[in-house]
Amino acid sequence: MKLGRLNHIGVATPSISDAVAFWRDTMGATTIHEPFDMPEQGVKVCFVDTPSGPQIELIEPLGDASPIRAFLEKNPAGGQHHVCFEVPDIAAARAEFEGMGKRVLGPTRIGAHGTPIFFLHPRDMGGVLTEIMETPSEGAHWSN
Ligand code: CO
Repeated sequence: MKLGRLNHIGVATPSISDAVAFWRDTMGATTIHEPFDMPEQGVKVCFVDTPSGPQIELIEPLGDASPIRAFLEKNPAGGQHHVCFEVPDIAAARAEFEGMGKRVLGPTRIGAHGTPIFFLHPRDMGGVLTEIMETPSEGAHWSN
């Protein structure tokens, strides 16, 4: 495994509109993308840019079966939820983590940036829920 770029930090929130106001008014973020729904993942997502660095990915539950509902029950005001690192080849990375005995959560699927992703169990990752994302290819058109 070769550690790639930190793409984003996932932050769960009960309200994307409140979180957007926080990042704009308190933190001074100037580039905040349009929120969008990912019904198949059970989340609403909004990306906040940081200067020449990783993005903040705000995630709000969408639907009753949302995977972040339990997290928000434990952390009602929201909180830092996951980190996401890029890899050049998602299938190779998955095989490598599985070979190291790391638990992969669910199938590899298309993530919020329109590229394949998977999640690794926090108990196998030093307590950090970790998303692995294939680096978008040159000139790739992100869905958002
Ligand atoms: Co993410």
